[in-house]
Amino acid sequence: MAWMDLGSPRPKQQPDRYTPFVWPDGHFRLLTPQWVSQEELADGCSAERHVLRVLARRRSKRTFSRLDMSELSQLLWHCARTQATSPSPLGFELEQRPTPSGGAIHPIHLLVKLAGEPQWCRYDSRVHALVDVVGSADLLRDLLAHSEFVLPGAEATRILLVAEPGKTQAKYEDAASVIWRDAGALLAIMAVVAEALGSHFCPLGITGEPWASRLAPPGILAGVGMALIGNSPE
Ligand SMILES: Cc1cc2nc3c(=O)[nH]c(=O)nc-3n(C[C@H](O)[C@H](O)[C@H](O)COP(=O)(O)O)c2cc1C
Repeated sequence: MAWMDLGSPRPKQQPDRYTPFVWPDGHFRLLTPQWVSQEELADGCSAERHVLRVLARRRSKRTFSRLDMSELSQLLWHCARTQATSPSPLGFELEQRPTPSGGAIHPIHLLVKLAGEPQWCRYDSRVHALVDVVGSADLLRDLLAHSEFVLPGAEATRILLVAEPGKTQAKYEDAASVIWRDAGALLAIMAVVAEALGSHFCPLGITGEPWASRLAPPGILAGVGMALIGNSPE
C-alpha cells in the first residue's frame, strides 16, 4: 500500500493571482454574533466557556523563548496522551486521546526536538514520557536546518508529526486523506492548547519529508507536518 508523496509545500517566488469562486445568491438568514463578553475576557468564566475565550484570542506567534519541561509536559498531556485503549482486530489497540482520529487509530507520532539538545525524542503517549530516538540527530540534521530556515527560533521546541500510514491503511482503502486530516486535527488542538497555556505556537507548511521517513525502513513512516512552540520572549 503506497503512501502518496504530495511534495513539500513552499511559497512561490512570484505568487499567482486567483479569483475566488462566487457562490450564487440564495435564501439569506443572518445569524446572531456570538461575541465572548468583555466580562468573560477579563475574569473567570465557566470551564465550558474557557475554550471559547481561548479561541477568541488565539494567534500564531513566531518568537520563542525556551519552554521548560513541565510546560512541554502540559502541552503533550493535554493534546496527545492516551486516555483509553480498546482491543481491535487490526493488530494494535485503538486509542482515545484528546484529539479525534479516523478509526480511533492515532497513526501520528510526535517527535520533539528540545532546544539545546542534539537528539530528537518520541512522545510515548501511553506512559506520558519522552524517549530518545537513537540516530535522530544525524538523520534529521538537514530537516532541522531546513525548518530553521523556514522559521528561525534557536530557543523553540520543534515538533515533528510523523505518520505511520500502515496503521490507518490496515482499516481503510485510500487512507491517505484520513491521515492528513488527523494531522490537521492534531495541529489545531495543539494551537488551542498552546494558547490556553500562554505559549507561543506556529505550525509550519513543510511536511518533514524527505527526512522523517528515514527514521524507519522505507514505507513505514512519513512526515506530515511540523510546528514550533516556546514561551513568550518578553
Ligand atoms: C498548515 C499550516 C501551515 C503553516 N505554515 C506556516 C509556515 O510555514 N510559516 C509560518 O510562519 N506560518 C505558518 N502557518 C501559520 C499561518 O501563517 C497562520 O495560521 C496564518 O497566518 C493565520 O494566522 P493566525 O494563526 O494567527 O490566525 C501555517 C499554518 C498552517 C495551518
